[in-house]
Amino acid sequence: MINLIKSSEIPNDTSKGLKYKKISLFIVKKNEEVFLYLNRCPHLGTPLEWNENEFLDSDKTLIRCATHGALFQINNGKCLVGPCQGKHLQSIPFEIKDGEITIQEQELFSITF
Ligand code: FES
Repeated sequence: MINLIKSSEIPNDTSKGLKYKKISLFIVKKNEEVFLYLNRCPHLGTPLEWNENEFLDSDKTLIRCATHGALFQINNGKCLVGPCQGKHLQSIPFEIKDGEITIQEQELFSITF
Protein backbone atom coordinates (compact mmCIF):
# COMPACT_ATOMS: atom_id res chain seq x y z
CA MET A 1 0.00 0.00 0.00
CA ILE A 2 1.41 3.37 -1.05
CA ASN A 3 0.23 6.66 0.41
CA LEU A 4 0.35 9.24 -2.39
CA ILE A 5 -0.97 12.36 -0.72
CA LYS A 6 -3.63 13.51 1.71
CA SER A 7 -6.88 14.29 -0.07
CA SER A 8 -7.15 17.47 1.99
CA GLU A 9 -3.95 18.78 0.35
CA ILE A 10 -5.76 19.06 -2.98
CA PRO A 11 -8.22 21.96 -3.19
CA ASN A 12 -11.49 21.44 -4.98
CA ASP A 13 -11.43 22.21 -8.75
CA THR A 14 -7.68 21.74 -8.98
CA SER A 15 -5.27 19.12 -10.26
CA LYS A 16 -1.91 17.88 -9.06
CA GLY A 17 0.85 15.91 -10.74
CA LEU A 18 2.64 13.17 -8.80
CA LYS A 19 5.41 10.70 -9.48
CA TYR A 20 5.81 7.24 -8.06
CA LYS A 21 8.99 5.39 -9.10
CA LYS A 22 9.17 7.40 -12.35
CA ILE A 23 5.50 6.71 -13.14
CA SER A 24 3.78 10.01 -13.72
CA LEU A 25 0.25 10.33 -12.37
CA PHE A 26 -2.17 13.13 -11.74
CA ILE A 27 -5.09 13.76 -9.46
CA VAL A 28 -8.12 15.92 -10.09
CA LYS A 29 -10.53 16.94 -7.36
CA LYS A 30 -13.95 18.00 -8.61
CA ASN A 31 -17.03 18.50 -6.42
CA GLU A 32 -14.93 17.10 -3.54
CA GLU A 33 -14.47 13.84 -5.47
CA VAL A 34 -11.00 12.55 -6.33
CA PHE A 35 -9.94 11.10 -9.71
CA LEU A 36 -6.54 9.54 -10.41
CA TYR A 37 -5.05 8.97 -13.87
CA LEU A 38 -1.81 8.04 -15.55
CA ASN A 39 -0.24 11.22 -16.95
CA ARG A 40 -0.16 10.00 -20.54
CA CYS A 41 -2.31 11.23 -23.39
CA PRO A 42 -3.88 8.36 -25.35
CA HIS A 43 -3.04 10.22 -28.58
CA LEU A 44 0.77 10.27 -28.55
CA GLY A 45 1.63 9.23 -25.01
CA THR A 46 2.83 12.67 -23.96
CA PRO A 47 2.31 14.22 -20.51
CA LEU A 48 -0.89 16.22 -20.32
CA GLU A 49 -0.15 19.27 -18.16
CA TRP A 50 0.22 22.85 -19.40
CA ASN A 51 2.29 23.93 -16.47
CA GLU A 52 3.22 22.22 -13.25
CA ASN A 53 0.01 20.81 -11.71
CA GLU A 54 -2.19 22.36 -14.43
CA PHE A 55 -4.21 19.68 -16.18
CA LEU A 56 -7.61 21.38 -16.46
CA ASP A 57 -9.17 23.75 -18.98
CA SER A 58 -9.89 27.36 -18.05
CA ASP A 59 -13.41 26.49 -16.80
CA LYS A 60 -12.02 23.67 -14.62
CA THR A 61 -14.63 21.35 -16.11
CA LEU A 62 -12.46 19.17 -18.38
CA ILE A 63 -8.92 17.80 -18.52
CA ARG A 64 -7.01 19.31 -21.44
CA CYS A 65 -3.92 17.89 -23.12
CA ALA A 66 -1.21 20.51 -23.62
CA THR A 67 0.10 18.98 -26.85
CA HIS A 68 -2.93 19.14 -29.18
CA GLY A 69 -5.72 20.32 -26.88
CA ALA A 70 -7.75 17.12 -26.55
CA LEU A 71 -10.46 17.45 -23.89
CA PHE A 72 -11.32 14.67 -21.46
CA GLN A 73 -14.15 14.20 -18.99
CA ILE A 74 -12.90 14.43 -15.43
CA ASN A 75 -15.08 11.65 -14.04
CA ASN A 76 -14.17 8.89 -16.50
CA GLY A 77 -11.23 10.17 -18.61
CA LYS A 78 -13.10 9.85 -21.90
CA CYS A 79 -11.79 12.06 -24.71
CA LEU A 80 -14.68 14.19 -25.97
CA VAL A 81 -12.83 16.36 -28.50
CA GLY A 82 -9.46 15.95 -30.19
CA PRO A 83 -7.36 13.44 -32.09
CA CYS A 84 -8.01 10.67 -29.55
CA GLN A 85 -11.80 11.20 -29.42
CA GLY A 86 -13.55 8.21 -27.85
CA LYS A 87 -10.39 6.89 -26.16
CA HIS A 88 -9.83 7.12 -22.39
CA LEU A 89 -7.12 8.23 -20.04
CA GLN A 90 -5.83 5.31 -17.97
CA SER A 91 -7.49 5.51 -14.60
CA ILE A 92 -5.61 4.21 -11.57
CA PRO A 93 -7.53 2.37 -8.83
CA PHE A 94 -7.14 3.94 -5.40
CA GLU A 95 -8.69 4.09 -1.97
CA ILE A 96 -8.90 6.89 0.52
CA LYS A 97 -7.85 5.62 3.97
CA ASP A 98 -7.72 8.00 6.90
CA GLY A 99 -7.71 10.86 4.41
CA GLU A 100 -4.73 9.47 2.42
CA ILE A 101 -5.08 8.60 -1.26
CA THR A 102 -3.54 5.14 -1.47
CA ILE A 103 -2.71 2.81 -4.34
CA GLN A 104 -1.40 -0.73 -4.63
CA GLU A 105 2.09 -0.87 -6.17
CA GLN A 106 1.48 -4.21 -7.87
CA GLU A 107 -1.76 -2.94 -9.40
CA LEU A 108 -0.01 0.22 -10.64
CA PHE A 109 2.81 -1.77 -12.26
CA SER A 110 0.37 -4.20 -13.91
CA ILE A 111 -1.43 -1.24 -15.51
CA THR A 112 1.61 0.72 -16.60
CA PHE A 113 3.98 -1.99 -17.85
S1 FES B 1 -0.82 14.23 -27.55
FE1 FES B 1 -2.62 14.77 -26.43
S2 FES B 1 -3.94 15.46 -27.98
FE2 FES B 1 -2.19 14.90 -29.09
